[in-house]
Amino acid sequence: MSSAETGNRVKICQSVELNEGDIKGVDLPDGQRVALYRVGETIYATSDTCTHGEASLSEEGLLSGHVVECSWHFGTFDVRTGAALTSPCSIALKTFPVEVVDGDVYVCY
Ligand code: FES
Repeated sequence: MSSAETGNRVKICQSVELNEGDIKGVDLPDGQRVALYRVGETIYATSDTCTHGEASLSEEGLLSGHVVECSWHFGTFDVRTGAALTSPCSIALKTFPVEVVDGDVYVCY
């Protein structure tokens, strides 16, 4: 992965590197770990750690449409908003704006 930091956004990868249904975990320069999801032509980013436990959604999550399921206890979140959808998850994930410029994916933080 090449990361070229530009202000408060960072280049993560090229959009073609993310296939439909993929979840990619990346570390931001400030130490936050985020998960990127491709749904159709859109890429979303949330914090990587499930708000119920310490599961990594990029490693343990399953993406189905706009919903990521944490495989530890099967709680779910909407990757568009971060909203917790099903028990035992009740706290929303933090979300991050994603920009795609000339095929490059940037996360703003
Ligand atoms: S750690 Fe994710 S649902 Fe429990």
